[in-house]
Amino acid sequence: MGVEHDNIHIRLLLFCTILGCLATTPAMAALKKYQFDVQVKTVSRLCHAKPIVTVNGMFPGPTIYVREGDRLQINVTNYAQYNMSVHWHGLKQYRNGWADGPAYITQCPVQTGQSYTYDFNVTGQRGTLWWHAHISWLRATVYGAIVILPQQGTPYPFPQPDFEFELVLGEWWNTDVEEDVKQGNKLGLPPKTSDAHTINGKPGPLFPCSEKHTNAIEVEQGKTYLLRIVNAALNDELFFAIDGHKMTVVEIDAVYTKPFSTETILIAPGQTTNVLVRANQLPGRYFMAARPFMDAPISIDNKTAAAILQYKGIPNFVLPTLPQLPSLNNTAYALSYNAKLRSLNSKQFPAAVPRKVDRRLFYTIGLGVNPCEDCLNGTQMAASLNNITFVMPKIGLLQAHYYNLKGVFKMDFPDRPPTVFNYTGAPLTANLKTSVSGQPRLSKIAFNSTVELVLQDTNLLSVESHPFHLHGYNFFVVGSGIGNFDPVKDPAKYNLVDPPERNTVGVPTGGWTAIRFRADNPGVWFMHCHLELHTGWGLKMAFVVENGPDKDHSIRPPPKDLPPC
Ligand SMILES: *[C@@H]1O[C@H](CO)[C@@H](O)[C@H](O)[C@H]1NC(C)=O
Ligand SMILES: *[C@@H]1O[C@H](CO)[C@@H](O)[C@H](O)[C@H]1NC(C)=O
Ligand SMILES: *[C@@H]1O[C@H](CO)[C@@H](O)[C@H](O)[C@H]1NC(C)=O
Ligand SMILES: *[C@@H]1O[C@H](CO)[C@@H](O)[C@H](O)[C@H]1NC(C)=O
Ligand SMILES: *[C@@H]1O[C@H](CO)[C@@H](O)[C@H](O)[C@H]1NC(C)=O
Ligand SMILES: *[C@@H]1O[C@H](CO)[C@@H](O)[C@H](O)[C@H]1NC(C)=O
Ligand SMILES: *[C@@H]1O[C@H](CO)[C@@H](O)[C@H](O)[C@H]1NC(C)=O
Ligand SMILES: *[C@@H]1O[C@H](CO)[C@@H](O)[C@H](O)[C@H]1NC(C)=O
Ligand SMILES: *[C@@H]1O[C@H](CO)[C@@H](O)[C@H](O)[C@H]1NC(C)=O
Repeated sequence: MGVEHDNIHIRLLLFCTILGCLATTPAMAALKKYQFDVQVKTVSRLCHAKPIVTVNGMFPGPTIYVREGDRLQINVTNYAQYNMSVHWHGLKQYRNGWADGPAYITQCPVQTGQSYTYDFNVTGQRGTLWWHAHISWLRATVYGAIVILPQQGTPYPFPQPDFEFELVLGEWWNTDVEEDVKQGNKLGLPPKTSDAHTINGKPGPLFPCSEKHTNAIEVEQGKTYLLRIVNAALNDELFFAIDGHKMTVVEIDAVYTKPFSTETILIAPGQTTNVLVRANQLPGRYFMAARPFMDAPISIDNKTAAAILQYKGIPNFVLPTLPQLPSLNNTAYALSYNAKLRSLNSKQFPAAVPRKVDRRLFYTIGLGVNPCEDCLNGTQMAASLNNITFVMPKIGLLQAHYYNLKGVFKMDFPDRPPTVFNYTGAPLTANLKTSVSGQPRLSKIAFNSTVELVLQDTNLLSVESHPFHLHGYNFFVVGSGIGNFDPVKDPAKYNLVDPPERNTVGVPTGGWTAIRFRADNPGVWFMHCHLELHTGWGLKMAFVVENGPDKDHSIRPPPKDLPPC
């Protein structure tokens, strides 16, 4: 296999040169401004050229570099023919849902020719997050990494790496994704699966026309590298490994973890993982590879994206070999990997796990087929939480809540499913498959109360792993299991000491996950499956967290340039 590539990143970067040296001046917050021009650009992959929506003509889009405590102002100007909104995935946006980004949840879209400046502070978070379009499937090409460095003078709680790189994993279609989605909706069926997986926008040499489309990162023997890995794929959980090299996981979703060594990581859409890698092998060229994990009988794009870890001085004709990735359906690997994740829970970075629960929620995840008048077949695929398929409103729910507009949503999302059944018993598709839609139904949460939410997968149509993302918060993943959640026995096995803290969690196929959080951020916060396919089918809802006792604990007033509908 002849492997060429056009962009070895020789970013002998040292944050010293880019952002001022660590450990010198005292912490000082800075204002960082970015201009995001949303524009269409023709890009070619797998021997196909097509126009895609980009930010600043870049694919993937620009990385945002900030330090904890900084203020960010990002002026998104839309020159494309699509409505646009951008989500800063994992940023907590305290009292400031106006800058969160999901279209029709916290804002109306930025329409063609308009601008909106997302203005927010990066408070109490450090690590890797990412940004992406949050409307339709435009995030297929509109995404990039966010690197939040610790405050100046604060070292990482792990050995200082010599260099850092971002690896953003994605999915590529040769066709126009927005058209595919339209077609799919007409048929009431999923659009076709992607044509390739990508690493930093490139599929690598296992695909045709790879000569220009392989990423390589150059390493020096003996040095340590921090890889900031993001899963920006739309629908696929991914395994990722580097041939011959172990990785030490040190952070997930911008929260430090207890370090552990692994040959393969598992990363769901929406999640991020930071790993340390030591270039301690014979100088050579080693493949880094990403391929899906899918343990349900569902057809997906199972192709492998590859990039190269290239030791300095090694010529390009040296052929790399692929790492051994777990098989596509390796449930045991997935479960054991997730079970290793623990919050660092140090004195400096404690895990503030709610021990007492004020509000218990139990939501079932269902897939199904609903009637559809406009669909060719009279039916469409649908997805639901507690048997409710969420229908997008026509104006932003946060505005409707803030201005107390009537008739936009109801505040009656049920705390438990309407029917108790054997959720993961087989097979269930016979008579429970139609879900209820209609006006959005939200769930009201008292300010500063503690919430436990159990997400229960079901065998309605099919079991499947669902990565759930909550906006405005991190949560603690206190428990998880296969089969039906047992409210008597399972809580006894919770980890309330150092559970992983994150913003997106995979609910295992045919299983459940229990999360806890303190509702101290007032606003309207979206919660949804981060598989774009399922979000589109209605696997989503929103919480309304009430205001606190005073102005300083209430939703901020909206910015003047908030886009109108
Ligand atoms: C955002 O960018 C647009 C296009 O350059 C410009 O017209 C607008 O004034 C900018 N907005 C702000 C607040 O700077
Ligand atoms: C961010 O912090 C600055 C400085 O403290 C403050 O003026 C501004 O209102 C804050 N913005 C948000 C959105 O919290
Ligand atoms: C990937 O999918 C194709 C087409 O469905 C199938 O032929 C192939 O065996 C699959 N490969 C793996 C590794 O599962
Ligand atoms: C995984 O897939 C392989 C072939 O695709 C199959 O032989 C094997 O039985 C599957 N394993 C599980 C646990 O389903
Ligand atoms: C049309 O709907 C029927 C009944 O739900 C289903 O059996 C069939 O597969 C559907 N066909 C298509 C093309 O969706
Ligand atoms: C639920 O279904 C599973 C699998 O079909 C079965 O093993 C289990 O006994 C059922 N549980 C109950 C309470 O019926
Ligand atoms: C969902 O609601 C529909 C309509 O009321 C009903 O027919 C169906 O049985 C419900 N399904 C479940 C799983 O509760
Ligand atoms: C929220 O509750 C915690 C625990 O009771 C308390 O320490 C904290 O002060 C409360 N926060 C606010 C803003 O009331
Ligand atoms: C863009 O957004 C506006 C405001 O919500 C809406 O009226 C319009 O129909 C949208 N345009 C498209 C093409 O979706």
